[in-house]
Amino acid sequence: MCGIMAYIGGRDTVEVLLEGLRRLEYRGYDSAGVAVSVDGKIELVRSKGKIANLAALLEGNKPEGRSGIAHTRWATHGPPSTKNAHPHPDCEGHLAVVHNGIIENYLELREQLEAEGHTFRSETDTETLAHLFEKYYDGDLEKAVRRGLKEVKGSYAVVAMSDREPGLLVAARQYSPLIVGLGEKKGENFVASDPSAIIAYTRQAYLIDNGEMVMLRADGVQVKTLSGKPVKKPVFHIEWDAEMAEKGGHKHFMIKEIFEQPHALRQTIGDRIVGREMALKLEGLGLSDGYLRRVKKIAVIACGTASYAGMAGQYAIEKVCGVPVIVDVASELQHRECVFDKNTLGIAISQSGETADTLQAMRMAHRQGAKLLAITNAIGSSVARESDGLLYIHAGPEIGVASTKAYTSQILAMLLFCVHLGRVREAVTPRVARRLLRGIKQLPDLAERTLEQADHIKKLAKKHQHIMRYLYLGRGAHYCSAMEGALKIKEIAYLDAEGYAAGEMKHGPLALVTEEVAVLSAVVEGPQYEKALGNLQEIRARGGKVIAVANENDEEIAKYADDVIPIPKTEEVLSPVLAGIPMQLYAYYVADLWNREIDQPRNLAKSVTVE
Ligand code: G6P
Repeated sequence: MCGIMAYIGGRDTVEVLLEGLRRLEYRGYDSAGVAVSVDGKIELVRSKGKIANLAALLEGNKPEGRSGIAHTRWATHGPPSTKNAHPHPDCEGHLAVVHNGIIENYLELREQLEAEGHTFRSETDTETLAHLFEKYYDGDLEKAVRRGLKEVKGSYAVVAMSDREPGLLVAARQYSPLIVGLGEKKGENFVASDPSAIIAYTRQAYLIDNGEMVMLRADGVQVKTLSGKPVKKPVFHIEWDAEMAEKGGHKHFMIKEIFEQPHALRQTIGDRIVGREMALKLEGLGLSDGYLRRVKKIAVIACGTASYAGMAGQYAIEKVCGVPVIVDVASELQHRECVFDKNTLGIAISQSGETADTLQAMRMAHRQGAKLLAITNAIGSSVARESDGLLYIHAGPEIGVASTKAYTSQILAMLLFCVHLGRVREAVTPRVARRLLRGIKQLPDLAERTLEQADHIKKLAKKHQHIMRYLYLGRGAHYCSAMEGALKIKEIAYLDAEGYAAGEMKHGPLALVTEEVAVLSAVVEGPQYEKALGNLQEIRARGGKVIAVANENDEEIAKYADDVIPIPKTEEVLSPVLAGIPMQLYAYYVADLWNREIDQPRNLAKSVTVE
């Protein structure tokens, strides 16, 4: 949510900033801007809309300097407009700041600063920072930022520059991600909100922690605490390479990422399943067997797609291990009393590892004595760092705003954990555990086979192009598939879609079924198969179209559905990994027929770092 890029060094500064912003655009894209230090002055160029608008403005009119800051915005305070775009200057334009996060006491600070004579030009909370730093600036930017931030409540990743110190950028972090890129070429350094902005230039980085400040110069980087104590940071090596974050010939990142799923699933399995006995080597898990035996309840902490991956895990863990699991979205969970205690394990699932609600709920869980396991894609992210144990999904960079490969890899990571938990608690026999793990090992190949349905699904999308309203139904293991399928088509095709537990149909949604409605449902073999068929009959009896995702050997299903998308058969608890794929493809092809901005759907952002 919002992206920051800052650079100091000998390259074409505006080009580096724009390149960084383009790679961050998935985080927010309603306005953008750059500020560059040119001959003792700060030149500011900002524009409403996407980075392309900003680039067009800069064409032939590029400020040339050796340091600059840049931002792509996802509006929180004040609508998208040029004046609300970052960077924000102080009164006289001697200072400029970019900021991610929310300054909670900005109204109070703004009133105070206005009373002191500062003139505000935007409706943002961020502009307060520019004026605060101006107030305390006496020729030392580091001091001004430190002093100013003392008065600030809320979350921030901020970078500030001053025309009087063109060789310096000062950054600080409190609850919003910030990373320093250490120039591989001598004489340059970078600051960004996210590694994808800098991987084209360097893979050596410092991960900045809450309460830390960075003084960035072309020839060196100093990290201190907000109170001024020097901090020695280890150099962190970013493993992703720049190519992994390119479209690689695909029309959209989303479809590229859908097709990357077999590889992503292989990466999630990695070398975690070892030998003939299929021992599980979950390095970093950080939760002792003794603790796992004592766990009485598990609570999944997640938002959006990640919470639906949690639902798949819930079904598997309850069925295989007999441990109760609750799943609620993190924005609700953080306000629910008596969910966590020392016998509750919180499992935080997050692709980006920076989702604000997830982090708040995690902190609440910790305060109440629970331990936390993180399932995330983002190495060194806040979710990873604030947990007691870790399972990285290693799915590689996911750029499309709508999550795809992270979803299936998150489910797979939950399944690995589920088998481990079952073994430790002796809830599964060694034979059943091995059978599940054999099934898990086959999932990447089966995902490949599922992807062979892409052309068939594309045709179905065309056939049903006129449909404006969808219902997604599922039971048991596939309640999550219904929720995730509906979310996907809402997010990227902007069509009305509801995800529902199929058994609830009679309690309301059946009233929506007409000939203009299509129902997508994953109906795989398992204890609820017959009941799921019954639901399809109810829909067809009322004229609704049925598209069923069903096992390839299912000969019955054609009698109950208008169209069938076959997926390979696997254990019921593993099958959400496969059923997720046709849901993604269907939403993608429908959205493409509608010419939607698939990778950057309106009003959404990839990583929601504000509550
Ligand atoms: C946003 C994204 C979703 C994602 C959700 C949770 O809404 O658009 O794709 O599922 O955030 O994000 P996380 O990074 O925590 O998985």
